[in-house]
Amino acid sequence: MTKTSARPSAPLTTAAHAADPPRPLLEVRDLRTWLGAEDPVRAVDGVSLRMARGEALGLVGESGSGKSILARSIMGLLPESAATSGQVLLDGVDVLGSAPARRAALWGRTVAMVFQDAGRALNPVVRIGRQMCEGMTRHLGISSADARRRAVELLGEVGVPEPAARLSSYPHELSGGQRQRVMIAMALAGEPDLLIADEPTTALDVTVQRQILDLLGRVRADRDMGLLLITHDLALVAGRTDRTAVMYAGRLVEIGPTPVVFAAPRHRYASALLESTPSLSTARGSTLRAIPGGLPDPRRATDGCRFAPRCEAAAPECVARPVPFAMADRADHRFACLRPVGPGTRGRVCPEGDGRGRDR
Ligand SMILES: Nc1ncnc2c1ncn2[C@@H]1O[C@H](COP(=O)(O)OP(=O)(O)OP(=O)(O)O)[C@@H](O)[C@H]1O
Ligand SMILES: [Mg+2]
Repeated sequence: MTKTSARPSAPLTTAAHAADPPRPLLEVRDLRTWLGAEDPVRAVDGVSLRMARGEALGLVGESGSGKSILARSIMGLLPESAATSGQVLLDGVDVLGSAPARRAALWGRTVAMVFQDAGRALNPVVRIGRQMCEGMTRHLGISSADARRRAVELLGEVGVPEPAARLSSYPHELSGGQRQRVMIAMALAGEPDLLIADEPTTALDVTVQRQILDLLGRVRADRDMGLLLITHDLALVAGRTDRTAVMYAGRLVEIGPTPVVFAAPRHRYASALLESTPSLSTARGSTLRAIPGGLPDPRRATDGCRFAPRCEAAAPECVARPVPFAMADRADHRFACLRPVGPGTRGRVCPEGDGRGRDR
């Protein structure tokens, strides 16, 4: 493990060969992010995944499973106490291995993030216009007049009414939904290749949630931008993402096309999560069932399946050793479960599977 701040700069990249497959927008390789110097919390503990340009990936899992720390690792925006190993490549740039200035240069243009609580992210005593324009003049190097013009355009794009007038509003003069739209506008200002939205609608009522998610979907499509949509509410990613990744206790346990994961989840946790989500369990014709128990102690992580203590199908082999990632019926659907739900087979073990969530 390496302290993020202490790592040497390691810009990567080799010239692309004409025959090479397109470089993924995001590639996470066997990432571990542990927090705390002594007896660390293994918040992210061996995650690998890829996102293509313009793709929308949903990342779901219950509270405490490591979604936000994974997001922050991708941004290279981690607490002081964090130690990391593995790699995060954003458009080919080694985020965790880069010097802080190199990493900061990615923010806004390559990757931007929208957080859960727009109310707290905005400065309550500074007008919206100034908050938007300061970021743009600093990060994009444009003049104040251009930043102001751009701010009005962006507010219009995200559906804020009377955008020019809103520039002189204070955050408290806007509704929660409007504040979140402002945050999205600010995140879009640098035309990022990847937008990470970490529980962007949790603080909002259901109707406004839907509007904000529809907005994210629209701007993603308009800009051909990658979207990593993080939520503990599975119902929110259904129909809004190309693929869904399910995280449990610091690891990915299943990843695949969203309709496939929702219709036929293979990992016992993914299936239980679906059955514990009211609107989805009804739609699937199954009974709503809470998942008994809670996440394991993140400081005492084990190699075997971490869901086993809560799993009705668990066997001794599940906890004896790492569970390899297996391929379901299609190569782009994978899961790490020895007793999967569904069509009897255990799935074929991925040739490169290492039991730690390798994707594709
Ligand atoms: N700054 C921190 N210092 C120590 N531990 C932390 C810190 N931030 C998060 N954790 C721990 O890391 C683990 C993963 O937390 P994380 O916030 O990533 O979960 P999450 O999946 O985003 O949950 P939620 O759905 O509630 O947002 C948890 O055990 C959490 O308590
Ligand atoms: Mg979180």
